[in-house]
Amino acid sequence: MSGALRVEKLDKSFGGLRVTRTISFALQAGERLALIGPNGAGKTTLVNLISGVLAPDAGRIWLDGADVTAKSQAQRVKAGLVRTFQLTTLAPELPVQRQVELALFEREGLTGRAWRSIDTYPAILREAQDLLCTVGLNALAGAPTGSLAYGEQRLVELALALAMRPRVLLLDEPMAGVPRGESGRLTAVLDGLPATTAVLIIEHDMDLVFRMASRIIVLAEGAVLAEGSPDDIRTHPAVRAAYLGPA
Ligand SMILES: Nc1ncnc2c1ncn2[C@@H]1O[C@H](COP(=O)(O)OP(=O)(O)OP(=O)(O)O)[C@@H](O)[C@H]1O
Ligand SMILES: [Mg+2]
Repeated sequence: MSGALRVEKLDKSFGGLRVTRTISFALQAGERLALIGPNGAGKTTLVNLISGVLAPDAGRIWLDGADVTAKSQAQRVKAGLVRTFQLTTLAPELPVQRQVELALFEREGLTGRAWRSIDTYPAILREAQDLLCTVGLNALAGAPTGSLAYGEQRLVELALALAMRPRVLLLDEPMAGVPRGESGRLTAVLDGLPATTAVLIIEHDMDLVFRMASRIIVLAEGAVLAEGSPDDIRTHPAVRAAYLGPA
């Protein structure tokens, strides 16, 4: 199976509601793919299926040619399939850098060795500092995460995702709830994500989608309504009717 990520004929229903209808697509290494569509179209459900939060009723998921359909969330993260969440799930009292260090500790399988302090692992401390520089939070390394502005907390989440060295990064509405004044920093970091990391981004911010994505998939009522370049999608009559509105 070619592609960094490939999903094949994924199906998911909740009770009688078919939320994912036979969805197939591939994501190439380093590609920027946006997934857009109206509220309730099934975007988050698709990310939940890909990341292993939910099991599909049918279909398969491949990462770098390996079938991960039966793998746990943690196994997928280990294999390089990493997501951020739509809701903030950070420990408010922890300093920002410690939060990142703990993620690195876990990645390295060191969590069971709590008898040795993180501070005795200089490589981890350095990598955490580097990650905070990458997302522009180095000046806030010692601040409790809960004291950060909302947009800054979204940057911490991105640092935590990057700490897992993703080959494929799934971003579910990274700009949701971020005030205009803070959005510039976040988009700069999104623009600067590693070129080797394939990114699947869900966003309702169409400026960001059309600037960042090299390809766009439009979901409506659980199925792929359209797929193509930003120019194709911008002018697609069914997409305009279902989501973007008249030109
Ligand atoms: N755990 C669940 N149980 C029952 N129904 C669910 C569940 N999760 C999602 N749904 C339903 O599935 C449909 C798709 O939801 P989903 O959250 O995937 O949409 P979305 O495209 O991410 O929407 P939004 O843009 O608002 O985030 C909706 O009708 C939703 O109510
Ligand atoms: Mg959603």
